[in-house]
Amino acid sequence: MTRRSLELASFGIGQVSPSPLVGCVTVADTGEIVGEGSYIYENLIHAEVLALNQAGAQAKGGTAYVSLEPHSYHGRTKPCTEALINAGIRRVVCPVEDPNPKVSGKGFEQLRASGIEVVTGILRDEAAKLNEKFCVWHQKNRPFVHLKLAMSLDGRISLKDSVSTTLSGKESAVKVQSLRHEHDAILIGGNTTLVDNPSLTDRSGKPRRRKLVRVVLDNRLRIPLESNLVITAKETPTLIVSDSRDETKIEKLIECGVDVARENARDLRAVLEALRKRDLQSVLVEGGAEIAGAFCDAELVDKLTFIVAPIVIGGHLAPLAIGGNGANSLENAMRLRDLEIIKHGGDYEFTGYPFPKDEG
Ligand SMILES: NC(=O)c1ccc[n+]([C@@H]2O[C@H](COP(=O)([O-])OP(=O)(O)OC[C@H]3O[C@@H](n4cnc5c(N)ncnc54)[C@H](OP(=O)(O)O)[C@@H]3O)[C@@H](O)[C@H]2O)c1
Repeated sequence: MTRRSLELASFGIGQVSPSPLVGCVTVADTGEIVGEGSYIYENLIHAEVLALNQAGAQAKGGTAYVSLEPHSYHGRTKPCTEALINAGIRRVVCPVEDPNPKVSGKGFEQLRASGIEVVTGILRDEAAKLNEKFCVWHQKNRPFVHLKLAMSLDGRISLKDSVSTTLSGKESAVKVQSLRHEHDAILIGGNTTLVDNPSLTDRSGKPRRRKLVRVVLDNRLRIPLESNLVITAKETPTLIVSDSRDETKIEKLIECGVDVARENARDLRAVLEALRKRDLQSVLVEGGAEIAGAFCDAELVDKLTFIVAPIVIGGHLAPLAIGGNGANSLENAMRLRDLEIIKHGGDYEFTGYPFPKDEG
């Protein structure tokens, strides 16, 4: 049942940020499922309340399986702990505490104080992973950063002279769209804008609450006014981070609908703070090499995905995936935990989580 609560929570992907994903199953004392709910931000009804409403009187004496600790404070909605207590639920099974340090544990405390049995820890890792963006948002007070690059078997992200190159196949493209769907923002560097002239939209076809915000790090404001990002900025939000004093260009960009954050784009903490201020809980960093290297050097990568195509480019002039300074010793190299390898057509996806340097 806990697994089902996680599945119900996942139905909210793209539709809950900056809130967490939550799912709930209510089971009557007969063992029958009598209610299910998934949280969607705009609906203003929490998963627990949806599942309890469906269950009606059958919730009394039953069990609620909730994917995340029920909240015990008055926010946009009344506390879910209150709803569970008032419905006469006897037992709550929930894998993880709320990662928000201000409220963590308080929901469980309130339920226990009302005589409800609380069981925690079942599928803890899966539940925490489902809300990894929400966790980082609260625990590190910044957006979750997921670095994703497509490359050849020899680690090149394009042909020589950094020309626009599509390395991965159509099956991987589906995965990339689903990654974009999970995130609030997508970020690239100034050179990638010039070389690829990308659109950076979420074409997954799945519903999302807010449009994906396109972010370009561009101190020299080299982005052309006729680029795809600028000409579509009125329909699809576009943020340029730059410390340029070229007021004429800035004014023209703003006229085109671009949001300009006047920060030094080389200061990645300031960049992430500009995103946090705009309530963007997560960002998919899609390159190029210099930007990828800068995030790795700054130890600001929470999750990493490499999509490797079965080709070898070779030569000295084709850029390698990760620029920047790199590691000065093997101990300092980025090591990944929980590495997953998934095949998409002829390509291989490698996804993992960097160990913090002192834990590697
Ligand atoms: N295969 C893939 O997954 C993939 C993905 C993306 C791009 N690409 C390819 O990668 C190539 C472009 O990569 P690239 O490495 O040349 O350029 P890039 O990383 O896209 O952009 C680098 C530029 O971004 C600006 N910048 C702003 N903030 C920065 C920061 N904090 N750290 C570093 N740079 C910052 C700098 O320009 P200012 O001096 O103006 O600040 C710098 O010159 C293209 O060929 C593109 O097709 C491949």
